[in-house]
Amino acid sequence: MTSIDALISQKDSLAYWNNIDSTVNGMMGGYPHISRVDIRGSLNFISKLRSRRPKSILSRAADIGAGIGRVTAGVLSRTASTIDIVEPVSKFADQARQLGSDGGLTTMGDGRVGQVYVCGVEDWIPERKYDLIWIQWCLGHLKTEQAVTCLVRCGEALSEGGWIAVKENLSTNVTGEDVFDELDSSVTRTDASYRALFMSAGLKVCMTELQKGFPSELFPVRMYALRPS
Ligand SMILES: C[S@@+](CC[C@H](N)C(=O)[O-])C[C@H]1O[C@@H](n2cnc3c(N)ncnc32)[C@H](O)[C@@H]1O
Repeated sequence: MTSIDALISQKDSLAYWNNIDSTVNGMMGGYPHISRVDIRGSLNFISKLRSRRPKSILSRAADIGAGIGRVTAGVLSRTASTIDIVEPVSKFADQARQLGSDGGLTTMGDGRVGQVYVCGVEDWIPERKYDLIWIQWCLGHLKTEQAVTCLVRCGEALSEGGWIAVKENLSTNVTGEDVFDELDSSVTRTDASYRALFMSAGLKVCMTELQKGFPSELFPVRMYALRPS
């Protein structure tokens, strides 16, 4: 266990998220206007990843740490027919469940929300296979060992030819260290720490790209496409 692992607390992070509004502003930490750029970056990444069949629709995706379903609505519903949701905060999960019906975000593609699992991803045991498992701004809430276990489970839950996509902030610490944020009890990892996590989980990086177009005061955000090695 690293010294930061000892500080990470699921109880504290859930207390933080339960106090956050169920809005795009809440999901984006006060930068709602960059949600569109984020979604465009993710869609471009997926279409490069699927360069041979970019327009064909995947059967099933999962949105991990989905919040109110911003990624499901903007990205995954344009990519897959059915999207399962994993989100521990019930008020967010309830809103994600409503996507495509009323309330919620209205910008859904043709995909629909399938099963909604109201739990932390550390407690999620996938019950079926997925063509794409999207994990965005959520792995920082897990200790190293939990993150590795979660990635191993996700790797085992991929259908033939499927991918895990991880999209996370990267630490810019001058001495190249992971940084703990006590506000939401999360760790911002370095690129090297993420790659070490992936390797420990038996995953290889098939493609990776920095998100472009975010304000310079924010952490750099990197996308990784992963498959069992
Ligand atoms: C910054 S929001 C991102 C939401 C969504 N991924 C997006 O990009 O719009 C972080 C989300 O992670 C969720 N979260 C916190 N701890 C988690 C855990 N242990 N497992 C899964 N999700 C978690 C929070 O409830 C919150 O919805």
